[in-house]
Amino acid sequence: MNDTPLNVPPEKIPQHVAIIMDGNGRWAISRGLPRVAGHKAGTENLRRVIRSTVEFGIKYLTIYAFSTENWGRPPEEVQGLMGILQDVIDRELNELHDEGVQLRHIGRLERLDPKIQAKVLHAIELTKNNDRLILNIAWNYGGRDEIICAIQKILKDGIAPDDVTSELVSRYLFTVGVPDPDLVIRTSGELRISNFLIWQAAYSEWYVTPTFWPDFDKDEYRRALEIFAQRDRRYGGVSEAVANKARNG
Ligand code: FPP
Repeated sequence: MNDTPLNVPPEKIPQHVAIIMDGNGRWAISRGLPRVAGHKAGTENLRRVIRSTVEFGIKYLTIYAFSTENWGRPPEEVQGLMGILQDVIDRELNELHDEGVQLRHIGRLERLDPKIQAKVLHAIELTKNNDRLILNIAWNYGGRDEIICAIQKILKDGIAPDDVTSELVSRYLFTVGVPDPDLVIRTSGELRISNFLIWQAAYSEWYVTPTFWPDFDKDEYRRALEIFAQRDRRYGGVSEAVANKARNG
C-alpha cells in the first residue's frame, strides 16, 4: 500500500469533508457483478476512508449513502442498501466506538423500517460522547427535504420573518452544530450536486474524480487534500493578496 505522508500544513487540513460516494453500480457492472456487489465493495472502501480521515486529522466527515430519490431504485437494490446499513451497524459499531468515532444521522429517520431506526438510534446513543471523528451518515437524506423540514420547524416555532437569518436557518438543519463542509469529494466523474448539502456547500471547494467509489483509495484522498490546500478560498470576496494591493496601492 502506498503510504506517502500527507504534505499539508495543519492549518490547511479541512475541518469537514463531505463525500458523494458515486460509481458503485458502474464498478460492479464493469465486473459482471450485480449492483449490490458494488455497494458492498463501496462499504468496504468506506471503512478504509473513515480510518484515513481519522489519520489525516479531519474532525467531521459526512457521507451521502442513501438519498430521498434512491427509493426509486429497483426494490432489490433498495433492500440491499437497507441490509448493508444494518450489517454495518451490527458488525462495525463496536470497533468504530473504540476508535472514538461519533455516529450521527442526517435525513428522515422516521421514514425507515422501525428495526433500522432502533439500530441507528442505538449507534447514535452509544457513540454520543466520542470526539475523534464526527461521522454524519446521510441516509434518506435530501437537501431540499432538509430545507422544507427547517421551514416547517421555523414556522411552527413562530419565528418572526425579520429574525430569519442565515445562522438561524443553519440551526434548523439536520447538520445543526456541524461546520459547513470545506471540501466536497465526488467520485465517478459526475458534475452535479445531486441534492446533497445544498445549503451547507454554498462555499465548499470541490474535488471531482473519474475514479469509481470502491477504487477511491488513501493515495487519491491524500491528493485531494493536497489540491484543496492549494485553493484560494474567497467566499465571494477577493484574495488576501488582492485586498492588500487595493489597500496599499
Ligand atoms: C452511488 O453509486 C452510491 C449509492 C447510492 C450508495 C452508497 C452506499 C454505500 C457505499 C453504503 C454505505 C453504507 C453505510 C452503512 C453508510 P451508484 O449506485 O449511483 O453508482 P452508478 O452511478 O455507477 O450507478
